[in-house]
Amino acid sequence: MATMTNVMADEAKTILQVYRRNPVVFARGEGCRLYTAEGRSYLDLISGVGVAALGHGNPKLAAALAAQASELLHTSNLFFHPLQAEVASHLIALSGLDRAFFCNSGAEAIEACLKFARRYWHAQGAPRKQFVAFEHSFHGRTMGALSVTWDEHYRAPFAPLVGDVTFVPVDDTAALHAAVSSETAAVIVEPIQGEGGVRPISQEMADAIRESCARTGALLIADEVQCGLGRTGRPFYSGALGLRPDLMAVGKSLGAGVPVAAALFSNKVAEAAAFGDHGSTYGGNLLACRAALVFLEELTQHGLMEHVAQVGAHAGASLRAMASRLPAVREVRGEGLIWGIDLDRPAAPVVEAALERGLLINRTSDTVVRLLPPYVITAAEFDEGVAHLEAAIAVCTEGSQA
Ligand SMILES: Cc1ncc(COP(=O)(O)O)c(C=O)c1O
Repeated sequence: MATMTNVMADEAKTILQVYRRNPVVFARGEGCRLYTAEGRSYLDLISGVGVAALGHGNPKLAAALAAQASELLHTSNLFFHPLQAEVASHLIALSGLDRAFFCNSGAEAIEACLKFARRYWHAQGAPRKQFVAFEHSFHGRTMGALSVTWDEHYRAPFAPLVGDVTFVPVDDTAALHAAVSSETAAVIVEPIQGEGGVRPISQEMADAIRESCARTGALLIADEVQCGLGRTGRPFYSGALGLRPDLMAVGKSLGAGVPVAAALFSNKVAEAAAFGDHGSTYGGNLLACRAALVFLEELTQHGLMEHVAQVGAHAGASLRAMASRLPAVREVRGEGLIWGIDLDRPAAPVVEAALERGLLINRTSDTVVRLLPPYVITAAEFDEGVAHLEAAIAVCTEGSQA
């Protein structure tokens, strides 16, 4: 049996040490619960960082993947298969964009967006290099995605990155207007900043983004990797803010656990692409597309998006009620099933105390507890999680509150 002690010992010898993992080995999952081999159960309010949207051990997904695996898994992009266009049609209908490029991770989707933003300007015969991004942004770990990611801690060891990126404070519309010019290839924004502490972009900033892009012709890239595809109870949060991106990155929940992501393009941008400009060996293979189809059909045809909106409204009320009982909570931010609980102190001990109580959550941006539950979570399960979270916060703040 894979015990924690021997898995940890084996990893310490063989795995690049870049992850600070929690000391748990899960053996199986069902819905919003994960179980260790010893039978301990955990309630999952983080879903593998926003990925396991259909929960764990989903029978429909499992059957579709098994059938696909026994039929055909991968043929590469040297050949056609029918599923890419099927998945793309869903994404086009949801986003209002026109074309998709499939890849395997959020960072790769961002890379494609950055490349094709520059490709667009190259095709116009008037190359533009600059990107405008936001403070507290997170767009991924590859060189391009890292270049538009704000946190120096992630960036500094890997310098020099792709040049010509200007970071703007999320609440400073004047700084945005000053940064975006006729040299700007694209503005890139997470409509709700995820890793940066679950911070929705304000309507005022969204309006300023729209105006500055209209004024200068700069393209708009929406990074919907974490907050998109129904997680807020709407298709995309950029749409809720009245933004009409030219390019969009999606990932995480798209494959419900199978690695698949996509960059989406307006026709205006897509027309600049030529054969050979970009590619991926695995991108959009049959297994990945099958998973995406199961997820997208659940989302759009079987009521999952409406379910997220309903449970999400309950979740917000439940968390705000909890916050009113806990002076250590400074703010509750989010929408649908993406929530940040901002504390007046580091959140790491709360995450640990929650784990001891059988609740899976995580910390982001030092003081923020983040919740990204599976889309299939019920209101009762969410409240069970909130009760554990409240107990975890209380135990970590006992005797130290004002
Ligand atoms: C908003 C956003 N963009 C991009 C990424 C990168 O995605 P991946 O880890 O799949 O490369 C993430 C990952 O957390 C993300 O939250």
